[in-house]
Amino acid sequence: MEIIDLNEKYLSTYFVCLEDWSDEIKEGGNHKESWFEHMKDKGLRVKLAVDGEKACGMIHYVPIEHSFAEGKDAYFVHCVWVHGYKKGVGNYQKRGVGKALLRAAEEDAKMMGAKGLAAWGISMPFFMRASWFKKQGYKKVDKAGMQILLWKPFAEDAVAPKWIREKKRPQKKEGKVTVLAFLNGWCPAMNMTFERAKRAAREFGDQVEFQDIRTIDRATFLDWGIADAVFIDGKPVRTGPPPSYDKIKKKIAKRVKKLKS
Ligand SMILES: CC(C)(COP(=O)(O)OP(=O)(O)OC[C@H]1O[C@@H](n2cnc3c(N)ncnc32)[C@H](O)[C@@H]1OP(=O)(O)O)[C@@H](O)C(=O)NCCC(=O)NCCS
Repeated sequence: MEIIDLNEKYLSTYFVCLEDWSDEIKEGGNHKESWFEHMKDKGLRVKLAVDGEKACGMIHYVPIEHSFAEGKDAYFVHCVWVHGYKKGVGNYQKRGVGKALLRAAEEDAKMMGAKGLAAWGISMPFFMRASWFKKQGYKKVDKAGMQILLWKPFAEDAVAPKWIREKKRPQKKEGKVTVLAFLNGWCPAMNMTFERAKRAAREFGDQVEFQDIRTIDRATFLDWGIADAVFIDGKPVRTGPPPSYDKIKKKIAKRVKKLKS
């Protein structure tokens, strides 16, 4: 197994987070590809773990000023993922691949003059666990709900980052059900949720208004302080792990029924 920089050969597999075999991930559309096109000139770094020809792990990180955290002279890890399913390239987790990817990202960030590496993890024991980063020497420096901001400084004068917090919340509109979906593009799971919400909202015709907010535009993200989310009549829908299409549709249907009564 070796760690390489992303290259043309692996682009399409990177866009689906190494899950070429999954039909579900395709529901996320081409948003990650668009995000990549936008971010590649803004300092996005992507590394892959490859075993022979097989890509079995990935890590991507961006200069912190293009992330969801506020900081200086640092990079932010959006995601580390080691393929964990039997399908496709198979399960590569718990064999040191994640550790090797994170170490490569740290070395790379240091080489580019960064004073630290930040990462997001969640406090629950699933998805991108904060506990895993803690084991790798990262400290919790901020928290917003379940989202933990982790940090490893490389220099004594490194300044710990903070989350950019939600600044305003979508409001409910009278006489209509509103589905408001925020999309950044970096994560196929979030992109999938966005597309499911859009598709479900359309099923209800004029009774439901669907609005999308594209947070790949930095000013838009900073205006809201929300990167990826779905709100139905101003209420957030739990999006991690991605809710099924039926679940989202049921939630909308409930609001439509209330509208009529
Ligand atoms: C978390 C993850 C990146 C770790 O990579 P990995 O290759 O499986 O882990 P490694 O073999 O490198 O493990 C390194 C260490 O972490 C420990 N570890 C592994 N999985 C862990 C977990 N889920 N929680 C806490 N510690 C864990 C290992 O025991 C090992 O400990 P050691 O250093 O004492 O030996 C990987 O399991 C993964 O991708 N999980 C899913 C994360 C996810 O959903 N990412 C997408 C979110 S955008």
